[in-house]
Amino acid sequence: MFHVLSAAQFSKDEILEILHSASQMEAILEGPGFCELAKGKILAALFYEPSTRTRLSFETAMLRLGGGVISETDVTFSSITKGEVLPDTIRIVSNCADVIAMRSKTKGDAAIAAEYSSVPVLNGGDGSGEHPTQSLLDLYTISKEFDLESAMNVAFIGDMKYGRTVHSLTTMLRHFPNIKLQFIAPDALQIPDSYFQEGDLKQEALSDEIIANADVIYDTRIQKERFEDPAQYEKFKSVYIFDVEQVNKMKDSAILMHPLPRVNEITLAVDDLPQARYFQQAANGIPVRMALIAKALNLSA
Ligand code: NCD
Repeated sequence: MFHVLSAAQFSKDEILEILHSASQMEAILEGPGFCELAKGKILAALFYEPSTRTRLSFETAMLRLGGGVISETDVTFSSITKGEVLPDTIRIVSNCADVIAMRSKTKGDAAIAAEYSSVPVLNGGDGSGEHPTQSLLDLYTISKEFDLESAMNVAFIGDMKYGRTVHSLTTMLRHFPNIKLQFIAPDALQIPDSYFQEGDLKQEALSDEIIANADVIYDTRIQKERFEDPAQYEKFKSVYIFDVEQVNKMKDSAILMHPLPRVNEITLAVDDLPQARYFQQAANGIPVRMALIAKALNLSA
């Protein structure tokens, strides 16, 4: 069964196949806007942590494929509040749906869900763990601008420790050895050793040189909800701010990405600059999730 649990599960060929399928889905979106590939199928969206983009794009993707959606978004109204454990919830939900997209607070939950589910589970973020469907849409966004086989610099900025999108995207980018990875973060929020490789750059200071040499800047939010001590969050929340002046130091051909939501790390005026790519990146979530749902359900166009 095709579960999507971690970025590491994907071979390079599988990633390229999904990006190709996403471009076919995008053609459907740009043409008729929907199809009937998933007619009669149901997606259950279980989102036990805040989400706007991820849940809505999963739901939109299923609706555009002609399927239906059921969702549970507030743990207060879920049997989890009565003490139901995740395996039981998943057993019940997999009786109702053909595929489950889920997000939870705890790292590893998606893998537990997959053990107990009789239908495919798509991990939409498990705590500070991973967010593999996001990294496929991130890669799709990069691939629309650059040849993934060519030499380029990708600079990750912000919260490398808790930022699950960084963990998953870093893992997938390893399939493209000409891409050099740079991690710019406060020491306390640096990339975990398990994601770092020899040849990567890791430093605290965001220099003009890094900005000027980057082809992709992948900015991230400091993950407030993961800090035990609020004072620590306050200390880090404004370390790197991208304003017009900073973005003007980027190459004309470079792009500024962000998984969103942004808090204060990119000023609103940047949205109008040609390098800003984060809204298009978010929109790419729909065709990529259409491709993933179609693969999980074994649907072929
Ligand atoms: C990210 C997440 O949930 O990890 N958001 C998203 O899904 N696009 C990033 C974040 O919350 O900072």
